[in-house]
Amino acid sequence: MIIVTGGAGFIGSNFIHRWLESQGESVLNIDCLTYAGNLENLTGIRTSVPGGPTYYFSRTDICDQAALDVLFAKYQPRAVVHFAAESHVDRSIIGPAEFIRTNVNGTFALLEAAKKYLRALASPEASKFRFLHVSTDEVFGSLGENDPAFSETSSYAPNSPYSASKAASDHLVRAYFHTYGLPTLTTNCSNNYGPYQFPEKLIPLVVSRALEGQSLPIYGDGRNIRDWLYVGDHCDAIIEVLEKGRVGETYNIGGLNERTNLEVVHQLCATLDELRPKQSGKYSDQIAFVKDRPGHDRRYAIDARKISEELGWKPVESFESGLRKTVGWYLENQGWVDHVRDGSYRDWINRNYSGDAA
Ligand code: NAD
Ligand code: DAU
Repeated sequence: MIIVTGGAGFIGSNFIHRWLESQGESVLNIDCLTYAGNLENLTGIRTSVPGGPTYYFSRTDICDQAALDVLFAKYQPRAVVHFAAESHVDRSIIGPAEFIRTNVNGTFALLEAAKKYLRALASPEASKFRFLHVSTDEVFGSLGENDPAFSETSSYAPNSPYSASKAASDHLVRAYFHTYGLPTLTTNCSNNYGPYQFPEKLIPLVVSRALEGQSLPIYGDGRNIRDWLYVGDHCDAIIEVLEKGRVGETYNIGGLNERTNLEVVHQLCATLDELRPKQSGKYSDQIAFVKDRPGHDRRYAIDARKISEELGWKPVESFESGLRKTVGWYLENQGWVDHVRDGSYRDWINRNYSGDAA
């Protein structure tokens, strides 16, 4: 079985759905359920399938070293896929402390637990063990318009408290490989979008505000560029790296989809015009330029040749097909959005979950 941290968040929950469907191997999800952790993302997952994989959940903070030790000893994982993090750049500007705590100290505690567990593991299990750390392209900083895309050898130059905390966690992972021989893998991915993304991030924020007739806030001049990857493609890439990646290596993951924020929002509006037309006017009428994010990185782009050439991974979705799926999902799952926006997903957690269900 494998341990997934942060499996109640956006990418982690998509990963667990995909893992159970495609790999048929049991999962322990370790998540402390911050505001971004939503167990509704995992409804529909059967906890136990006769003769098949079992899904376990433990409400545990990754900073809690003693609790992690107990979970490793009890579940004896063959791998860890580490998603748990504070992930929103704007929140890191307002309150950086939680980012340092979870992303740096939490990753440190998880590495320590894995190191201790690995030392007690007999071979051949020990030689097969993997620790996969999920990171971001933001650790490389900001590109100019004509700069080459980020590769695995690009220098680290994080510009926000979020990216600095992720950079620190990447360095700790690297150090645990070189110093202690922990069989680590690190992935640095571009902007994800898809089902279950918390509506504080650009794409789900725009969809939900558009439908409510609210303004669609574009920071600065709207010409900042991001590379967008459908979340299912990211999950497949992680599985490839976990199964076939070379230990100690890092792999960049990207969608080959560079877009300005303004292009993204216009395309979202056009998709909504088609799928859920307004009674009068167009959704793009709601676009409003607002004050820029402090330290706003201008451009991210990913050179994904290494994962493509070594492991044969390529994204399946184009931006157009992925965006259409995503908008369709939000339109069909308005209840999920409503529960997040009115806070009742927290009541759902309280009603349906108490203590450690694992
Ligand atoms: P998210 O904010 O949606 O989910 C984070 C999850 O981690 C939540 O379920 C939360 O409850 C949990 N968590 C937070 N602190 C915790 C703690 N101390 N202990 C246990 N659980 C904790 O994040 P996401 O967008 O799904 O991102 C997942 C990972 O992928 C992060 O490491 C992020 O840096 C990385 N990443 C994200 C993107 C993106 O576009 N979203 C792109 C590249 C990399
Ligand atoms: O690049 C990978 C990163 O992508 C991940 O590591 C982060 O966890 C993830 O949150 C994401 O970071 P961004 O800051 O790029 O994502 P966000 O959706 O917050 O913003 C995308 C772009 O849109 C960015 O240039 C800021 C802009 N934006 C965002 C919001 C929320 C707006 O113009 N208006 C907004 O209201």
